[in-house]
Amino acid sequence: MDRELALEFVRVTEAAAIASGRWMGRGNKIAADQAAVDAMRSAFDTVSISGTVVIGEGELDEAPMLYIGEKVGAGGLAVDIAVDPLEGTNLVAKGLPGSIAVIAIAPGGKLLHAPDMYMDKIAVGPKAAGKIDINAPVKENLKAVASALELKIEDMVVVILDRERHAKIINEVRDAGARIRLITDGDVSPAISAAVEGTGIHMLLGIGGAPEGVLTAAAIKCLGGDMQAKLCPENDAEIARCKTMGIADINKVLTIDDLVQGDDVMFAATAITQSDLLRGVNYFGGGARTNSIVMRYKTGTVRFVDAIHTFERKPILK
Ligand code: FBP
Repeated sequence: MDRELALEFVRVTEAAAIASGRWMGRGNKIAADQAAVDAMRSAFDTVSISGTVVIGEGELDEAPMLYIGEKVGAGGLAVDIAVDPLEGTNLVAKGLPGSIAVIAIAPGGKLLHAPDMYMDKIAVGPKAAGKIDINAPVKENLKAVASALELKIEDMVVVILDRERHAKIINEVRDAGARIRLITDGDVSPAISAAVEGTGIHMLLGIGGAPEGVLTAAAIKCLGGDMQAKLCPENDAEIARCKTMGIADINKVLTIDDLVQGDDVMFAATAITQSDLLRGVNYFGGGARTNSIVMRYKTGTVRFVDAIHTFERKPILK
């Protein structure tokens, strides 16, 4: 994929973030999501690709836009696209940190077509790459990652979604002596932070959405970090769905290279509300300022894009 596309992709996430950010704190997650979807869909019309949505807003009959299988782009290179126009709908509705507009792009067939079900995840940054094992006890992973980061376990911070299903791992992390940041929603943004030094977050653990898991893997791969995952089907239909994806053994450990294959992946995200890594959308008279991250695995380039968008251009006085 052409490097020039990076800037095109960040325009897409910026458009979604600017539209969705207007709904921050208004208590309406559906409107916040719709605004993001509409803006992202329109922004794709200007990008020189022939894209196919492989992770999106749902199946054709569930979502009018950015549904799985939808073709997007103005024409050009054939690519697969994973989108989440608003990752963390509740976060925007409540004005809480951690919501992002996000996309990942790769050549056809390289992104796992993860169905809308749960996925167990463990994600870390580059220094701890190769040291994690999703099947090992939590304490073993904490020890291995702390040692790779040259940290005491007590100084580690693990991000976990605050859910009843995580009671056991929360206790295990606390028993091992590490600290925890419990989040109410949105596990993609903190997972990215775990892969960047200096954010104060060292690991993401626990069960969240599988589509979000693939987006996370794209980001972590670009950052040189590591991730493992396991699909968590909850009923026969979801088990059957795994099988049609070619995952016959539902206990199969999905490595980062299973989630995102090859070396040609790009990732872009724009913060809607602030995070450890990015400032949220900030509106001012006649415009808005956005903060994004855009990455390309092939070259290892990580760009932070601080952009000022002018909505109304005043005529230049002569
Ligand atoms: P939204 O779809 O409302 O944006 O929620 C996203 C999310 O919080 C993900 O970040 C996370 O992986 C998943 O939902 C958690 O699911 P659940 O709320 O069912 O525990």
